[in-house]
Amino acid sequence: MNNFKLPTIMGAAIVATALIGLSGQAVAGISSTKHNLSDTGTGDINSDNPEICVFCHTPHNAIKNNNIPLWNHTLSVTASYGVYTSPTFDGADVADVGGIVEATATVTNLCLSCHDGTVALNAMNNPSNNHLVTTMAGTGLDVGGTKIDGARSTNLGADLTNDHPVNFTYDDAADTGLVAAGTLTDVRLFSGKVQCASCHDPHASDPATQPFLRFTMDGSGLCLKCHNK
Ligand code: HEC
Ligand code: HEC
Ligand code: HEC
Ligand code: HEC
Repeated sequence: MNNFKLPTIMGAAIVATALIGLSGQAVAGISSTKHNLSDTGTGDINSDNPEICVFCHTPHNAIKNNNIPLWNHTLSVTASYGVYTSPTFDGADVADVGGIVEATATVTNLCLSCHDGTVALNAMNNPSNNHLVTTMAGTGLDVGGTKIDGARSTNLGADLTNDHPVNFTYDDAADTGLVAAGTLTDVRLFSGKVQCASCHDPHASDPATQPFLRFTMDGSGLCLKCHNK
């Protein structure tokens, strides 16, 4: 009998190794980033919940409109963020993303549901069935405080007037210093508009494009994807 056991155990070990390899590939992305708020998260802020996507998405009973993907994180009720202005800014239709209701939330509101510092990180529309969050580790965005990571803060607060403009149409006719909208690569517009996720990919894990950027900042390459400078 013992003669048969050894190959069986070895076979199981090989299968297990193969499975670990496969599952490693399947979750190689966001799991290694600060947006993994589950119990495997290695960032400053995580929880005892083993699920990763649930903090932002849910398969059912989502906060849904036609601009956002199956959203689960409770939106901020901040009334006004203001908008960027300057004498040379070519964003005629720029609009405040404050005072937003679920039916009209933009992709920018999704980021601000955590990054304006007013909503608990574990506040969800549809908490997972088997894995409730009972503890969050780390202080910062979850308690509305200012999280200092190096010299930077991941809490943008309720003022977007001093941030790169968002929620306006990418108008390459009004501003001839822009790369033609039809030839943009790597960055992403949302219904023709610049939003937080035009520059950021909240799932991005490549160390060369952190913090969650769609392209490298070496040589300010990301900026040059849109600006002919
Ligand atoms: C920290 C928040 C956050 C987490 C965690 C997160 N997402 Fe997302 N996801 C977003 C945001 C914001 C968008 C919309 C912006 C965009 O499309 O890049 C999005 C968009 C998407 C989209 C549609 C557009 C696209 O880029 O493909 C899919 C599919 C998606 N997420 C799947 C997932 C899955 C699967 C997980 C878990 C493994 C996950 N997300 C975890 C924030 C998150
Ligand atoms: C569910 C809450 C949540 C949502 C939604 C969310 N984030 Fe985050 N984000 C976090 C947390 C938590 C951190 C880590 C904060 C820290 O350690 O200071 C973080 C960190 C970041 C960082 C800094 C990464 C670094 O390496 O320092 C960036 C950039 C960022 N998020 C951008 C975004 C953008 C853009 C969106 C929307 C597309 C978004 N986040 C949506 C929770 C969220
Ligand atoms: C035009 C591109 C662009 C847009 C739009 C943009 N970001 Fe960023 N963001 C960046 C870049 C580039 C960095 C990294 C800056 C650096 O490392 O020099 C960054 C850094 C961050 C950080 C880390 C803290 C910091 O100050 O470096 C957070 C958090 C963040 N962005 C969130 C957001 C949110 C939320 C939005 C929408 C309200 C947004 N970003 C819109 C390009 C952008
Ligand atoms: C997804 C495309 C996109 C990316 C990437 C991008 N921008 Fe912009 N940016 C725009 C658009 C569109 C405008 C509005 C047009 C204008 O006024 O120049 C703008 C406006 C600006 C303005 C204000 C111009 C003014 O007249 O007040 C500055 C400065 C700027 N961007 C710098 C940057 C920097 C620096 C980066 C890289 C960190 C960057 N942008 C990345 C699209 C982008």
